[in-house]
Amino acid sequence: MLTIWITGASSGIGFATAKKFLKNNWRVIISSSNNQKLSIAKKKLLTVSINNELHIIKCDISKKEEVKQTIEYIEKNIAPINLAILNAAAYSPNKTQEFNLENYELLLDVNLRGTLYCINFLKEFMQNREGHIAIVSSPIGYRGWPTAGAYGMTKAAQLNLGESLFFDFKKIGIRISIINPGFIDTESTRLNSFKMPFLKSSEYAAEKIYNGLLNTNKFEIFFPFWMIVFVKIMRILPYKIYFYIWKKLGNF
Ligand SMILES: NC(=O)c1ccc[n+]([C@@H]2O[C@H](COP(=O)([O-])OP(=O)(O)OC[C@H]3O[C@@H](n4cnc5c(N)ncnc54)[C@H](OP(=O)(O)O)[C@@H]3O)[C@@H](O)[C@H]2O)c1
Repeated sequence: MLTIWITGASSGIGFATAKKFLKNNWRVIISSSNNQKLSIAKKKLLTVSINNELHIIKCDISKKEEVKQTIEYIEKNIAPINLAILNAAAYSPNKTQEFNLENYELLLDVNLRGTLYCINFLKEFMQNREGHIAIVSSPIGYRGWPTAGAYGMTKAAQLNLGESLFFDFKKIGIRISIINPGFIDTESTRLNSFKMPFLKSSEYAAEKIYNGLLNTNKFEIFFPFWMIVFVKIMRILPYKIYFYIWKKLGNF
């Protein structure tokens, strides 16, 4: 039986992905920073588990020691991790264009430092045994969006990091993937005050993630197709046109 660890799986995309892997007979370990949310998630997930191989571990990824202990615990007491989905993230949309340092610091600590801690300790165990690490980034990382500096900065860094590690970790037998979802209906995006185009469910995302990671060799798993193609085109536009489009879209 194969083993997956998913961070930030008490809700949203992580939770739906855990469900998908459980239904496919994987041993699933979910973690998040909140014990209560994890227990509720466990109760719901056990109803779909066919093997009862579901474990919950509280792990705040912004705490280096907690991440170290979690990975050591899984590896030594549960099973070697075949696939890790680094999905946990903090999200607090800025509704204004004000620069808020605390928000930048929070998102840096969770989304970026947290991802780095996971990769660092996973590497120790996974190297030379064909491990697979998938980082959930976001197409917002392709380019700077108005009001999204803090979140976008961390997602851009994750993307750049993933591209870089793709080369470096191949040498030590670890596969790196990037997951770039469009707008998915979750607790986080329900905080948005604008209408989200091409909005999809967490179950849709889980399906795409499962197939993308297991049935393709793609480095980047992105969905829904047309939404991301549009953002990819925005990514290569010259600044003059890019800034003009945002001005027309929202007077930025
Ligand atoms: N939804 C979208 O449209 C969308 C689009 C692009 C990318 N993404 C990415 O997809 C991933 C999942 O997001 P989501 O939309 O599913 O959001 P979500 O439902 O809010 O889930 C976020 C998860 O992260 C956990 N978390 C937050 N802080 C944590 C910490 N310090 N340590 C460990 N876990 C922590 C939360 O659990 P606790 O509160 O229990 O800790 C929760 O389980 C994120 O990386 C996000 O950037 C989402």
